Amino acid sequence: MQTTAIHRQHLRGPVPLVHLVLKQFVQPGDRVVDATCGNGKDTVLLAELVGENGLVVALDIQESALERTAARLQEAGLSRRVTLLAAGHEEMVRLIAVPLSAVVFNLGWLPGGNRQLVTRPETTLPALDSALHLLQPGGVLAITCYPGHDGGDTETEAVLAWAATLPAQQFHVWRMGQLNVSAAAPFCLIIQNGTHTDVP
Ligand SMILES: C[S@@+](CC[C@H](N)C(=O)[O-])C[C@H]1O[C@@H](n2cnc3c(N)ncnc32)[C@H](O)[C@@H]1O
Repeated sequence: MQTTAIHRQHLRGPVPLVHLVLKQFVQPGDRVVDATCGNGKDTVLLAELVGENGLVVALDIQESALERTAARLQEAGLSRRVTLLAAGHEEMVRLIAVPLSAVVFNLGWLPGGNRQLVTRPETTLPALDSALHLLQPGGVLAITCYPGHDGGDTETEAVLAWAATLPAQQFHVWRMGQLNVSAAAPFCLIIQNGTHTDVP
């Protein structure tokens, strides 16, 4: 009897959950945005999911992040599906004009980089607003929040307050976090544009 390899993923921390959601909602040919490309792990997954005819736009304000992402994409043979932009995600509304099936924000600092260079509510909140407006019906916005670092608590509170006021008729807003870890552990929000979709 032939056995099939089963890849079991550890659900440690929010990122694997975000990836499960992206795998469910991003399809070949889609256009998506990685709003904080960092080391490029989310960008690579998105590039795999959109396939040859899709497009990923990946943004970061740090040159080192864009270089790491470019290297990771090249290694995976996925560079042609991704446009890397040295820009803040608060510029998204000016840079992107097509409906998106997913936008990913992974807040905080660049792992292995300068820990003083973190995402900030002044730019994160306008960027989240733009992302919501770019989501196609049924599209998802994934936000990983890090309340544990200096300033991360304030940013997290601001993001939660923003998300809690979104109209329930229009957006499905979910919070997912591990219960058996510190209250300051990272967690994620998933927000789906629930307008005019054929999703029951
Ligand atoms: C937690 S890291 C992202 C990790 C990444 N998703 C990965 O898979 O490796 C956060 C990133 O946000 C970037 N960042 C901070 N402020 C930004 C802004 N205004 N616009 C875009 N990126 C920003 C940082 O430079 C950093 O690389």
